[in-house]
Amino acid sequence: MSFTIAIDGPAAAGKGTVSKGVAAHFGFAHLDTGLLYRAVGRRVLAGEEPVAAARALSQADLERQDLRSAEVAQAASKVAVIPEVRAALVDFQRDFARREGGAVLDGRDIGTVICPDAEVKLFVTASPEVRAERRYLELTGKGADVTRDQILAEVRERDARDTERSTAPLKPAEDAVLLDTSDLSIEEALAKAVSVIEERLGQR
Ligand code: DC
Repeated sequence: MSFTIAIDGPAAAGKGTVSKGVAAHFGFAHLDTGLLYRAVGRRVLAGEEPVAAARALSQADLERQDLRSAEVAQAASKVAVIPEVRAALVDFQRDFARREGGAVLDGRDIGTVICPDAEVKLFVTASPEVRAERRYLELTGKGADVTRDQILAEVRERDARDTERSTAPLKPAEDAVLLDTSDLSIEEALAKAVSVIEERLGQR
């Protein structure tokens, strides 16, 4: 059986947490597609040309520990506007989505471009202020020296670039179920996602 769950949304909306939780709950494989763009961004920061970097990606690139920094996130969002970079990453994502046993992919354009026929599409969102606060707590928890204003500005900057680009901009698919996590705990957000998916699975 192949069953694809597409989870899209802006940075720090809870997409990653919901995706991991959903994949664990149903025993599905999970691909965080942001890692692909981060890995390209990291190669570009190291001096490579973006399209060549995207074509050269390998599994080892995705397993690097240094993909989570704010610098790599901004570089990822910049390379993600280049159509040839996006095109170079399509097959890998579609192959992953069609694997036997079910797959969860999270990103910005999974329900709209990569897997328009996904059995379930979720658009996980939250207000910019809530997302910035979560990111702030996460970063300061790791000892980073950042301010709330700085993080909110970065969140807004990345949102603008992700939603305004002409190729595969961040937007909910027409048939996506919206999940606003602004006032939800992790457990509540996950429970809602699981119930939407169970309903669809039950209809098959
Ligand atoms: O989800 P993330 O923060 O790891 O993503 C990093 C950047 O990669 C994000 O700002 C936009 C881009 N991205 C994308 O354009 N399409 C995806 N499917 C996933 C990420």
